[in-house]
Amino acid sequence: MNIAVVGAGYVGLSISVMLAQKYNVKLLDISSDKIQLINNKKSPIKDEYISKFLAEKNLLLKASTNVQEVLLDADIVFVATPTNYEPEKNYFNVDSVVSVIKEIIQYAPKAQIVVKSTLPVGFVDEYRQKLNINNLHFFS
Ligand SMILES: NC(=O)c1ccc[n+]([C@@H]2O[C@H](COP(=O)([O-])OP(=O)(O)OC[C@H]3O[C@@H](n4cnc5c(N)ncnc54)[C@H](O)[C@@H]3O)[C@@H](O)[C@H]2O)c1
Repeated sequence: MNIAVVGAGYVGLSISVMLAQKYNVKLLDISSDKIQLINNKKSPIKDEYISKFLAEKNLLLKASTNVQEVLLDADIVFVATPTNYEPEKNYFNVDSVVSVIKEIIQYAPKAQIVVKSTLPVGFVDEYRQKLNINNLHFFS
């Protein structure tokens, strides 16, 4: 099974390191600095276990900034991009998640999409309808 993870922050990197002990994982981020560190087995975030696992375990993990390269053969894609709360609008900004979902529809239309980012209630139903897809899921 080929797994893709989008967003190499606290959530995405934790999922990637855990799953890459057993499965092929490709990790996508827009930050080339983060990608370079991860491919050099160094953690871009402060976390004892992630640092240790990257340095010491034989992980099946490849990080990239190339959307197509990461998504093309993915069977399942975890989305862990930011959804910051905007108090003045009383709204979670889901723009990065929506744009990633559209990239997945383009490059890996058969993949199951599992959003790990924080989402407003009703997001999955709304975007299944809006984008005419049924392979969109949320897992907290
Ligand atoms: N950190 C936590 O403990 C935690 C727990 C539960 C839920 N969450 C939720 O998970 C989501 C991610 O949180 P985090 O703490 O990992 O965030 P983070 O800011 O540490 O990481 C997000 C990553 O996504 C990347 N990114 C942004 N837009 C992108 C795009 N279009 N394509 C590819 N990569 C992109 C950023 O460069 C960054 O590396 C948020 O919605 C957050 O609310 C976080």
